[in-house]
Amino acid sequence: MTDRPSPAPPTVVRLTEYTKTEQSEILGDSADPFGVADAGLTWLPKEEHFGIRQNGRLVAHAGLLRLPVSIGGVGTQVVGVGGVAVAPELRGQGLARSVVSAAVDHARTMGPLHGILFCRSSLVPLYQRLGWRTLEQDVHVEQPEGPVVMPLRTMWTPLRDGASWPTGEVRLLSLPM
Ligand SMILES: CC(C)(COP(=O)(O)OP(=O)(O)OC[C@H]1O[C@@H](n2cnc3c(N)ncnc32)[C@H](O)[C@@H]1OP(=O)(O)O)[C@@H](O)C(=O)NCCC(=O)NCCS
Repeated sequence: MTDRPSPAPPTVVRLTEYTKTEQSEILGDSADPFGVADAGLTWLPKEEHFGIRQNGRLVAHAGLLRLPVSIGGVGTQVVGVGGVAVAPELRGQGLARSVVSAAVDHARTMGPLHGILFCRSSLVPLYQRLGWRTLEQDVHVEQPEGPVVMPLRTMWTPLRDGASWPTGEVRLLSLPM
C-alpha cells in the first residue's frame, strides 16, 4: 500500500484590511469570541494581517505589530502577535498553525528578536505545540488607568536563531495586542 500525499498546506495571504467585519466573517458575532472579556483589558489593534480564505470566505487570521518593551530596564522592541482566530467549524485542521507560522515568518523580517503573545492558560499547550514558550514571570502592560500585571499567560518565540529571553522585569510600554 502506498502512502497518500498529505493535503497541501493552505495558502496564507496578507490582508489589506482587518476590521470588525472581517473578524465577524471568521468568528461570527458572539460577544466574547476570544474568551478574554473577564480580564477587562483594553487592547491595541494589530497593524499587519495574515489570513486564509476558503471559497472566498475569510476563515483564519493572525495579526502583528511592533511594540516597545522594557526587559530588565533595557528598552527594546518585540513583535506582538494577536487576534489569532479560526472559524469554529474549521478548527483542529491546522489553520491556526498555518496562519501563525506565516505571521511569525514575516515577524522575522521586522527587526525585533522576540515575538510575544498573550493567551488564556487553556491555549498554552496549543502554542507550545507551535514552538512558543511560556514566560513564567509577571508582565506589566499599559492600560488607560496606568500599568497593570497582565492576567493572561505570556508566551514568546525567538525571531532569530539562538535568541533567548533576557532576564529581568518585563514591562510592555503600550497597551497589549
Ligand atoms: C485557538 C484557535 C485559533 C486554534 O485554531 P485551530 O485551527 O483549531 O488550531 P490548529 O488546528 O492549527 O492547532 C494548532 C496545533 O495545536 C495542537 N493543539 C490543539 N489543541 C491542543 C491542545 N489542547 N493541547 C496540545 N496541542 C493542541 C494541534 O494539534 C496543532 O498541532 P499539530 O499541527 O502539530 O497537530 C481556535 O480555536 C480559535 O479561533 N479560538 C477562538 C479565538 C481564540 O481564542 N484565539 C486565540 C487568541 S490567543
